[in-house]
Amino acid sequence: MSRLSTRLITSRTQLHNPFGCPKRQESTALHFYQNKQLEIYASKEPKPLTLRQLIFFGRSMDEERLVKSANYVRTELPVRIAHRLRDLQKLPYIVVTQEGIAKVYELYWSAFEKFRKYPPITNIKENDAFCEFLAGLLDEHATVIPNLSLGMSLSSLYLAPDDLDSFMRRMLVSRISRRVLAQHHIALSEIYAGKHKPWDSSEPNVGIITTGLNLKSSIEKCANLLRHQSLEIEDFDGNAEIPVEVQIEGDAEMRFSYIREHLEYIVFELLKNSIRATRSKHAGSTKLPPIIATIAAGDNAIGMRITDQGGGLLTLQNSVQNPADLFSFSHIRNSARMEHSRLLSLRTASSYHRGIWATVNEQVENWKRLPDPEKEDGVERHARMGIGLPMSNIFATYFGGSLELKSLDGYGTDAYVRLPKLGTNLEAVNF
Ligand code: COI
Repeated sequence: MSRLSTRLITSRTQLHNPFGCPKRQESTALHFYQNKQLEIYASKEPKPLTLRQLIFFGRSMDEERLVKSANYVRTELPVRIAHRLRDLQKLPYIVVTQEGIAKVYELYWSAFEKFRKYPPITNIKENDAFCEFLAGLLDEHATVIPNLSLGMSLSSLYLAPDDLDSFMRRMLVSRISRRVLAQHHIALSEIYAGKHKPWDSSEPNVGIITTGLNLKSSIEKCANLLRHQSLEIEDFDGNAEIPVEVQIEGDAEMRFSYIREHLEYIVFELLKNSIRATRSKHAGSTKLPPIIATIAAGDNAIGMRITDQGGGLLTLQNSVQNPADLFSFSHIRNSARMEHSRLLSLRTASSYHRGIWATVNEQVENWKRLPDPEKEDGVERHARMGIGLPMSNIFATYFGGSLELKSLDGYGTDAYVRLPKLGTNLEAVNF
């Protein structure tokens, strides 16, 4: 039996106890062994929604509907959190002692308790207070992803790749779902209070869902943001001054209903990778081959293909056997997970107040502010954490879409995104 598998078996049979220090041990023992409430909530099934339900419900708001929405969020979120707390508790001892995991566990435990004890909302005034409460939690949880990714990278030695990846998928999908429900409810409340007038916008929205989202505009927006960011490609010899053109083809007029933040996260990440690869592959050239973004409006789904000539995915820079391994959090599938510089970047981001992913505009702002852990002179620039592609995959699949990467090794990469456009798929939280 290999050393790794021996270790896996030994660690799984150990008593689950997440933290080393005695004070924490006492309080977490309470969490682990005495709280019947967690069992009660974790025995309930989450009630997943479709995009269409979120839109229809939010289209015409009155006090009664807003209060109903508030109470759905109030009772649904602790159920979803309880399932993930149970997941964390089932991890082997050695995993839960890794840096980052304890922080996530504490955040979730505290949020679970707060939701559980939150009294029913009966009117607008109470809803305002509830929205403030939600906004506070969203902010408090901003660093969950780097903390979790750091912990899981460090745990990669002790978990089989399938276990690690399915755990991360459940954690991340569930987190997206909770944030969607909380943010949607806050946005609906703000619209009801007259703080936003979404119908005046060229891309109208219901809550956080943009009902006339134009993919071409989102691609242009992301390309522009990246054009002015030389920060994250300075680690290559390529000349950051030479622009990489993004050409858009296909159905430029196509509009559909989707969560802008999710779509633009994916577009931004794929373009960023393509620009980086193109600059790296053609370092020294005075003209760089363009990136082609093609938009397709299918009957049931929208499609987007991003094509570059950046040399493909299975080059020396990427330590994977096949493209899908880039979505993995396990170092066995993607050895970059254990790279010192990435761990340092995750550590920096995990103690940084703002989340590393929010809207793409905020992402760009965050890069500027994140200190580079490897530069002692304090020069600030973007640090690579390796979260972008796995997160894009999670975003694409959240409402039943897909993200696929095809590599023409030595030449370039095609990324295919498919997002259902009828809004009838349930959120992928049925676990
Ligand atoms: C998260 O961001 O991880 C959350 O669970 C947010 C939720 C508590 C509103």
